[in-house]
Amino acid sequence: MHVQYFVAKALAALLLQSIHATAAVLPRQSVSVDSSNPADALLRAVKSLDTTGAKHVDNVTTDHSVSTFTIAQGSNSSLSRSSAIDVKRLNFLYGPPVGGGPYFPTGALGTARVAADTVAIQLDEVPQLTGSALDNTEATLKSSQYDGLDTVGDYTKLYPDNFERTLPGRPVPGALTNFTQDLFFSMERLSNSPYQVRRLDPSTDTLQFRFDDSTAKKVGGSTLDSLFQTGRLFYADYRDQAELPKTTRYGAACDAYFYIEESSGDFLPLAIRTNVGTNLIYTPEDSPNDWLLAKIMLNANDFWFAQWMHLAQTHEVVQIAYMAAIRTLSEQHPVLALLNRLMFEVFAIQPLAQVVLFTPGAVVDQIFPYTGLAAQDYTTNLYKNKGAGRFKSNYFQAELQSRGLIDSSFGPALKHFPFYKDASIIFSAQKAFMRSFVESYYASSAAVKADGELQAWVEEAQGPAEAIDFPSISTTSDLVDVLTHFAHLASTAHHTVNTNELLDISSNLPFHPPALYKELPITKNVSNVAEYLPPFDKVLTQMSTGALFARPKLVGTDRTLIHQFDDEAMLSRMNAETRAAAATFKREMEAFSSEVNSRAFDADGLSQGMPFVWQALDPNVAPYSITT
Ligand SMILES: *[C@@H]1O[C@H](CO)[C@@H](O)[C@H](O)[C@H]1NC(C)=O
Ligand SMILES: *[C@@H]1O[C@H](CO)[C@@H](O)[C@H](O)[C@H]1NC(C)=O
Ligand SMILES: *[C@@H]1O[C@H](CO)[C@@H](O)[C@H](O)[C@H]1NC(C)=O
Ligand SMILES: *[C@@H]1O[C@H](CO)[C@@H](O)[C@H](O)[C@H]1NC(C)=O
Ligand SMILES: [Fe+2]
Repeated sequence: MHVQYFVAKALAALLLQSIHATAAVLPRQSVSVDSSNPADALLRAVKSLDTTGAKHVDNVTTDHSVSTFTIAQGSNSSLSRSSAIDVKRLNFLYGPPVGGGPYFPTGALGTARVAADTVAIQLDEVPQLTGSALDNTEATLKSSQYDGLDTVGDYTKLYPDNFERTLPGRPVPGALTNFTQDLFFSMERLSNSPYQVRRLDPSTDTLQFRFDDSTAKKVGGSTLDSLFQTGRLFYADYRDQAELPKTTRYGAACDAYFYIEESSGDFLPLAIRTNVGTNLIYTPEDSPNDWLLAKIMLNANDFWFAQWMHLAQTHEVVQIAYMAAIRTLSEQHPVLALLNRLMFEVFAIQPLAQVVLFTPGAVVDQIFPYTGLAAQDYTTNLYKNKGAGRFKSNYFQAELQSRGLIDSSFGPALKHFPFYKDASIIFSAQKAFMRSFVESYYASSAAVKADGELQAWVEEAQGPAEAIDFPSISTTSDLVDVLTHFAHLASTAHHTVNTNELLDISSNLPFHPPALYKELPITKNVSNVAEYLPPFDKVLTQMSTGALFARPKLVGTDRTLIHQFDDEAMLSRMNAETRAAAATFKREMEAFSSEVNSRAFDADGLSQGMPFVWQALDPNVAPYSITT
């Protein structure tokens, strides 16, 4: 397995390198119909993923009995049930991380499950990447229409008639017309990229940088200190990117202030510091070009942060907690049945990331300012040392409270917080389902404590699995919280920053390049921001990468969030209360989908207080599982 794996990896790297050797010699901004197609290279890399042993899994782990699921209580843990768990413990093992992060499955059952998940994700990827190759070819043929991508405005000509196969209807309404507005930039921190910004607490924080009061007053209506003291100052920090191993492209390592404007209550940008070169500090008082470039530099930093953060904070967290569950819970246990449903394709992601993103010569080396290996290490560091790997501390509301974004004891509340609003509705419905599920199986917290398999799961997660901050489960409500967090991380938390979001908005050009293509300025007064933006061949690689993670073909199918618990094979073996709760969840998600689907601009040209229409969490669009 290992030899094959490394051969496949090396092959993928070679393919990507050779494909891009051609593109690299093309002059900047030039467009050639002969330029090779990055989607083809990605498709070959995806197909090279190891799937040997995929058949084995169904045969061995799947419980083909049609009996009902039962919790483990005294005599219910029969000999056959516990020996089946022993088989799993012997054959589903903690192996070395793949693509960084926590342990990754190995052993006969472990590798078989990884292979099965990989087969499933290949089935998703093939149409995406085939479509992307065609999209790229068409976009290349139409290249005269982009006027050489000589100006920032030329980049909007890449849309909207291109790339229709990989994500129809993109980018989101407003993205091409309103991206220069400050409210667009700031509200992205509260919708499609909500994991960085935090409110500064005057009693515990200090200001990391200053600029003159007269500018602060002109922009924010008061001095920096006054904004800080009144709890209206927010901070985003990407300085940890300054020392990363570089590619041939460029990136700043910005930190930035945002603020709540006193009279309007709007959440707006105040200043951006680059932390590279001459360490320029930009504000909205700078020339439109300079300020636009500053916002683009921060967006490039945020692209890096948000993507590796999501890998660490969603995928890697559920992966290891689920591995511990597989090794301790019977396949007849309702909790494992539920996790099996939610964790569809979970083990396909780390190998995919390693082969298509991190391998030398692969996507990260192609389009980011720092290397693929740097991305892997950065992710692992977020996971292990920067809090992203914590289970309980990152519960939905607790995490937002810790950054002062909700329930703050000082400063005004955010007037609009689209991520929180949409995610709350889904989260509440997930929690209600889990409450019904847990309370229907466990008459009391004593029954939770008496479930030997469940308690073994906790011990396993906290022990040999080394899951970080995995909680004890001594009450029904502890179990509700743990299971709700799985459902949240696998869906809402993930799809906000990934899945369709990359092509919809978060990697939409010209405002969101993954890297800059010219040495960053050491003085202000930049004349043409387009000189810093990706040349056309890199645009295609960026589009194909987005295509790899988009799932437009799931829209309206039974793989969306509406159907998160709507699995007949699972529900038929569960109790009536759980079936009823699943039906309620489905109805609530259908209703919420109608609401999100009908979102449009109001009379002020805003939607949810933003100059773009954000619909990422439409339950009829977002997948139910952590699938991308
Ligand atoms: C898997 O299934 C095949 C055919 O159905 C059977 O021959 C084989 O023994 C099974 N393997 C295991 C481990 O159950
Ligand atoms: C054992 O399982 C049965 C269903 O098979 C269930 O009715 C019973 O309540 C369980 N016993 C305990 C103590 O949970
Ligand atoms: C800004 O750049 C333009 C040319 O790009 C030049 O004409 C102008 O003098 C510069 N202004 C400042 C303040 O440097
Ligand atoms: C944003 O863009 C849309 C369509 O492109 C437009 O209708 C709307 O008025 C814009 N909003 C603002 C605040 O400019
Ligand atoms: Fe992901």
